[in-house]
Amino acid sequence: MGGLEDRATLLEGTASAVRACVRCRLHVGRTFAVPGEGPPDAPIVLIGEAPGRQEDRTGRPFVGAAGQVLDRSLAASGLSRAEVYITNVVKCRPPANRPPKADEMQACRPYLLAELDAVQPRLLVTLGAHALRGLVGTRPRFADARGTLIDFEGIRLLPTYHPAAVLYNRRLESALAGDLRKVAALVREDEARMPRGGRLNARSRGPSRGATRSGRRAR
Ligand code: URA
Ligand code: SF4
Repeated sequence: MGGLEDRATLLEGTASAVRACVRCRLHVGRTFAVPGEGPPDAPIVLIGEAPGRQEDRTGRPFVGAAGQVLDRSLAASGLSRAEVYITNVVKCRPPANRPPKADEMQACRPYLLAELDAVQPRLLVTLGAHALRGLVGTRPRFADARGTLIDFEGIRLLPTYHPAAVLYNRRLESALAGDLRKVAALVREDEARMPRGGRLNARSRGPSRGATRSGRRAR
């Protein structure tokens, strides 16, 4: 486990399951479910809240207005979409873009964890308060954690703003880009210290990951 092909196979399996999924009420209103997208060995996984209208119409994450802000912010921080795997805490669009409910995030969580297991990123980034809550629960609070590094099951996580928030408050754009620059610097540092091959070996030995996730690894 860990080769590029293995990761791609795991992600394809998860994407197929997502497209057929009826585990929560959100399947009712969807046009297309939206699995994560990006290189199977991306060093960074970005986690958004939920698909919006454009994403629902195309089946692809962050292709609408928020996606354009995200692309701009990534570029401004020296990152490209080619370096990031992009996904959401729920894979189907909530009615009228309301925030996903706790039971919906819970129902969808296995898909997110399967994506993280497959990609094994160096760093996680949640976009907005709902994505943070969907991943880690109610603690730490977004206002306290934004722009800082916290731990998610042995992976460093940097919570930042949702790019849609930038559409409403332009002053957040530089903060978002600043957070992403921090992410870029951490990943460059990590890559210099531990090139890809070394990372995989080190990661798969991590006891906390194995202990919390091994159930789903038995594939
Ligand atoms: N907003 C999100 O949180 N996710 C998307 O995929 C698009 C917009
Ligand atoms: Fe399934 Fe997730 Fe869609 Fe709910 S949001 S139907 S759990 S894929």
